[in-house]
Amino acid sequence: MTSPGRQGKRRLRLLLALLLGSSVAAAFLRMAAPGMAQARKGDPAKGKAHYQALCAACHGTTGRGDGPAAAALDPKPRNHADGATMNKLSDEHLVTVIKNGGAAVGKSPLMPPWRDSLSDTQVRDVIAYLRALAVPHFKEK
Ligand code: HEC
Repeated sequence: MTSPGRQGKRRLRLLLALLLGSSVAAAFLRMAAPGMAQARKGDPAKGKAHYQALCAACHGTTGRGDGPAAAALDPKPRNHADGATMNKLSDEHLVTVIKNGGAAVGKSPLMPPWRDSLSDTQVRDVIAYLRALAVPHFKEK
């Protein structure tokens, strides 16, 4: 038979173990978070597939702004391989222009909005591909 006092102590120890355990878990998550943010950055290989399907008609299969539809467009589609221009555009800007179209950032409405065709994850994948196209190469700030 355990006395009520002993049981109370055991409960206290259990509570302490739980508290300690959860703070260890929280510290672990904080440590793992940068790696998880990296994973959220987007997958350029997946982005490439979306790009070829949705963007290449205007921007070209290699992103140089020379797709079959480009001849008819004024202004011309952006050359995504031109790092000098593209590297100045932040990820936030790219998310906005890809999801909401050129008009949303004061550019040509001939750059269509893609929010109905691409999920947020897919937009990030496309941006990862855009970053990979840029010469000179895009450097994270
Ligand atoms: C119908 C043709 C067309 C298609 C398809 C198209 N774009 Fe564009 N895009 C344009 C044009 C035109 C511009 C230039 C807008 C300007 O300079 O005013 C542009 C500009 C851009 C820019 C530069 C925006 C800036 O602020 O400078 C990005 C980034 C971009 N497009 C991404 C994409 C992506 C990603 C896709 C596919 C998901 C795509 N575009 C599909 C026509 C197109």
